Amino acid sequence: MTPEDLKPLVRTIPDFPKPGILFRDVTTLMGDGEGFAAAVGMMADKVRACEGQAIAGIEARGFIFGAAIAAKLAMPFIPVRKPGKLPVPVLAIDYALEYGTDTLEVDPGAVADGSRIVLIDDLLATGGTALAACELLRRAGGIVAEALFLVDLPDLGGAERLRSAGVAVEALLDYP
Ligand code: PRP
Ligand code: ADE
Repeated sequence: MTPEDLKPLVRTIPDFPKPGILFRDVTTLMGDGEGFAAAVGMMADKVRACEGQAIAGIEARGFIFGAAIAAKLAMPFIPVRKPGKLPVPVLAIDYALEYGTDTLEVDPGAVADGSRIVLIDDLLATGGTALAACELLRRAGGIVAEALFLVDLPDLGGAERLRSAGVAVEALLDYP
C-alpha cells in the first residue's frame, strides 16, 4: 500500500462540528484493518527515519495512532492530555483551535531529559494544537525530533507555522 491508497478511507463531512468546516474523519480509516495497519506502519517508518526515541500523542485521536506506533516500535508513549486528567502536577498551555480554544497538559516526569520525541496526531489544521504540544514537550526537557500526522490540511497553514517555530513536519496525506 502507498499513502495514496489510504486517501479513499478518510471520510469527508461538510459543516461538522460547525458550519464551514470540512471535517476529515479518520475513524473510517481506523475501521479498515488493513488501512489502519498500513498507516501505522508508514508512520512508524518515518519515526525510525528521524531517529525518534519516544512518541508523544495528543488526546484524543493522536492517542489512537501514537499508541499503536509506540507499541510497534517498543518506544515509550507520552500522553499529551486535555485538562484535569493527569493525577500529578502538570505543565499546561492554552491554545486556539480551528473551532474554539482548549488546554493541553503533560506530566513532566514522562519526558526523559534530552530525548528525541516524535509528536503524533491524526490531523494538522491551523497547527495550534501541535505547536502547543511541542512547547510543552520542550519545556519538559524533550527535543521534538519531528511532528508527524496522518493528514495535513495545508491551506490552513499549520505546517508552515510549525516549521517557522523550528519543528520538522511530515504527513502521509494532504488535502489541499
Ligand atoms: C483535532 C485534531 C488535532 C487538532 C488539529 O483535535 O485531532 O488534534 O484538532 O487542529 P489544529 O491544527 O487547528 O490545532 P480536536 O481538538 O478536535 O480533539 P479530539 O482529538 O479530542 O477530537
Ligand atoms: N481538527 C481540526 N480541523 C479539523 C478538520 N477540518 N477535520 C478533522 N479534524 C479537524
